[in-house]
Amino acid sequence: MALRTVLAFCFALLFTAPALGTPSIEVWKSPTCGCCGKWVEHLEANGFAVTAKNTSPGMLDRIKRQAGIGEKLASCHTGLIDGYSVEGHVPAADIKRLLEERPDAIGLTVPKMPIGSPGMEHPSGETEPYDVLLVKKDGSTEVFARH
Ligand code: CU
Ligand code: CU
Repeated sequence: MALRTVLAFCFALLFTAPALGTPSIEVWKSPTCGCCGKWVEHLEANGFAVTAKNTSPGMLDRIKRQAGIGEKLASCHTGLIDGYSVEGHVPAADIKRLLEERPDAIGLTVPKMPIGSPGMEHPSGETEPYDVLLVKKDGSTEVFARH
């Protein structure tokens, strides 16, 4: 290969590589879940690189259990980022804080699907208060953020 070709190839790699510091998250969801897609858009709008993966309800349950998310802590989708699990409609800012503080924990969850959380916006603008929970390694939780 001519040197010029090699150089061109290197530059191409350089500029297609994700910018340093871009958090990348894998999101497991059902293909028919509308609010999951909206949450993915919320993450992308806040600088996350998202790899969305569609799967069946049965597989999704297995992924949640493997991710350390018990039944009571579950929501519609499951994100995996940097060794942490992120379950449900967690705001992007809370995920960034998790990655900065790096607590010894399984991750974050917003159980069920509170109205007004990212991806769960109601057309009327209605919201309900909700907590983002930090899931500890023993399965217990503590409040990470209140919204
Ligand atoms: Cu949802
Ligand atoms: Cu979802």
